[in-house]
Amino acid sequence: MQTVGKLMKVFVTRRIPPEGMKILSTAGACELSLWDSDEPLPRAELLKGVQGAHGLLCMLSDKVDAEVLDAAGPNLKVISTLSVGFDHLALDEIKKRGIRVGYTPDVLTDATAELTVALLLATARRLPEAVEEVKNGGWTSWKPLMMCGYGLSGSTVGVIGLGRIGMAIARRLMPFGVKRLLYSGRSAKADAAEVNGEFVPLDTLVSESDFIVVSCSLTPETQGLCDKAFFSKMKNTAVFVNSSRGAVVNQEDLYEALNSGQIAAAGLDVTTPEPLPTNNPLLTLKNCVVLPHIGSATYSTRGIMSALSVQNLLGGLKGSDMPSELTF
Ligand code: NDP
Ligand code: DGY
Repeated sequence: MQTVGKLMKVFVTRRIPPEGMKILSTAGACELSLWDSDEPLPRAELLKGVQGAHGLLCMLSDKVDAEVLDAAGPNLKVISTLSVGFDHLALDEIKKRGIRVGYTPDVLTDATAELTVALLLATARRLPEAVEEVKNGGWTSWKPLMMCGYGLSGSTVGVIGLGRIGMAIARRLMPFGVKRLLYSGRSAKADAAEVNGEFVPLDTLVSESDFIVVSCSLTPETQGLCDKAFFSKMKNTAVFVNSSRGAVVNQEDLYEALNSGQIAAAGLDVTTPEPLPTNNPLLTLKNCVVLPHIGSATYSTRGIMSALSVQNLLGGLKGSDMPSELTF
């Protein structure tokens, strides 16, 4: 791939699944540089690697702000992120420079919804704690109240952000016998009818739900949305699940709510920071289940995300259509 006689330069910030690399290697000659590791690259390496690049393929852990864009310089035509979330991209700065953005919506919706349901069930039915009891000898006999938790049958579920993933979660939860499905967000959704979804103010959702699932995008409006005031309105028996972004939750307030019995339990696939330090107080709580951001982590989904992110990159480099271009 060439630009006025010169090879286009592409910088990829991590090893990506082979599905994407295969497309990249057969796409024609571009000057590819890759941070050849499963671990994130240090900021200084990002600033160095992006210099003069026409295309950047990045991860959700790479903060792409004015500094990175300045380091890249005027060649940069396209940023392709291996994620549907784009809160790590400074869109105002990107827009100013006329750079196109590709992302990976839809292809990870099922995997992420599935994981969120698994996390909800594991948290509500105390699976990690129960497995631990078997291993450490805490299982001494069948007892009427041993390891009791909360079930979905007859419950009210509240989904904060009934977007692609929120809707897929709702569809999967309804067959468990959920009685009411509440949701909140910026606008009512036409497809909510499929799950008898009721569009309600956030306060109503928080106070009436037995299970709260957060699946909104991280924006200035949703940052810190789940704080002390939020948890204080929840039922003492309610279970909180977040598979969106860690920053939607004030973790100190969540710790207090869990530790004091203000809420029953929490399941988090996302935290601040990531990874969550092993000495974080949340990890001392039996009623908090924390996963290492694995929502979309199936082999097949990650392979498809990899291919899509490369196709987006190539479309942007050629100045042609990108299969999933972000409009902003
Ligand atoms: P969508 O854009 O389809 O959905 C996002 C939803 O957030 C929209 O329905 C939007 O509502 C809602 N929203 C925006 N602002 C608010 C608000 N103030 N209050 C409540 N809801 C709000 O995106 P996806 O469903 O595809 O993905 C959602 C997020 O999930 C991603 O942004 C990402 O952060 C996270 N994610 C996490 C994964 C994981 O591994 N744990 C995997 C994949 C995604 P409206 O339409 O009304 O604006
Ligand atoms: C995303 O795509 O935004 C997730 O967090 C990882 O798949």
